[in-house]
Amino acid sequence: MKSDTSADLPIDPRDLQDWTEGWILAGATHLPNVAEVSRTMESPDAVSDPNLPITTEPRSDRTTSQKNMPIAMTAMTLDEKQNRLQVLAQRVARCVRCQELAETRTQTVFGVGDPNAKIMFIGEAPGADEDREGEPFVGRAGQLLNKIIEACKLTREEIYICNILRCRPPENRNPLPAEAENCREYLDGQIEIVRPEYIVCWGSVAAKNLLGTDSPIGKLRGKFYEYAGAKVLCTYHPSYLLRNPPAKKDVWEDLKFLFCEMGITLE
Ligand code: URA
Repeated sequence: MKSDTSADLPIDPRDLQDWTEGWILAGATHLPNVAEVSRTMESPDAVSDPNLPITTEPRSDRTTSQKNMPIAMTAMTLDEKQNRLQVLAQRVARCVRCQELAETRTQTVFGVGDPNAKIMFIGEAPGADEDREGEPFVGRAGQLLNKIIEACKLTREEIYICNILRCRPPENRNPLPAEAENCREYLDGQIEIVRPEYIVCWGSVAAKNLLGTDSPIGKLRGKFYEYAGAKVLCTYHPSYLLRNPPAKKDVWEDLKFLFCEMGITLE
C-alpha cells in the first residue's frame, strides 16, 4: 500500500519546503531521504554543520552570546549571496514565531544593502516608518543615520543594514528576549551570508542581544568585540542622539576608531 508521505513526516511540509530551498541554494543536486533530514534537525551537532542550510526552528542550542556561530567554509559569489538572502527574506516574510508581532506588523523588515558589504549595521527593531516602508532606518533615526554614513564618506548602499528584530514591536516597545531569540536565526543567517568584517551595534538593544551582555552601552564603547569572525563595535543609537545631541561627538569618536582599524582616517 502506498503511504501518505506528508502524514509520515515528523515536520511540517512547509518547513520541508524551506529546507529544500536551502539545500538547492547550497548547490545540492540530490536531497537526502526524510529520515536523514529529521535526524539532522534533532541533533544540535549536526545542525551546527556549516554546510547545512539555516534551520527553520529557533535554535535551542544557540545562546545569545554565541561567538562561534558556524561560518560557511566556502566563499559565495555575489549571485549566491543575493539568492540566499532572498530565500531567507521570503522565509522571514512568512514567519509567525512571535504571534503578537506577526499579528500587528504591516510587513517584515528584512534588511538592505550590499551583500558583500565590509560593514554591517545592526539596529534594534523597525519603527512605524520602517514597518510601512519595509526597509530599516527610514524614519527620523534613519535620516540621522544617513547623515552619519555620509560623514563617513560612504553610501547606504555600501553597507548592509538590519535589526535585531524583523517586525515592529507594538508602540515601539523594546524587543522581548523571546522575540530576539526567535529572530536570531535570521540575523545570524544574514551575518553568515554577508560575512561582514565589521559590525556596528547601534544602541544597547543591538549590543546586548548580539554579544549576550548586560553591560551598559557606555561601557561597551571604545573596544572591539568578536562575533562570527567580525570585529564588533558598539555605539549609541541614532534615536538617542536625536534626544541627546551632545552624544554625537561620542559616536563620531567611535566611528573614527572603527575606520582607523580599517586603515581609513576620518576627519
Ligand atoms: N531604529 C532601529 O533600531 N531600527 C530601525 O530600523 C529604525 C529605527
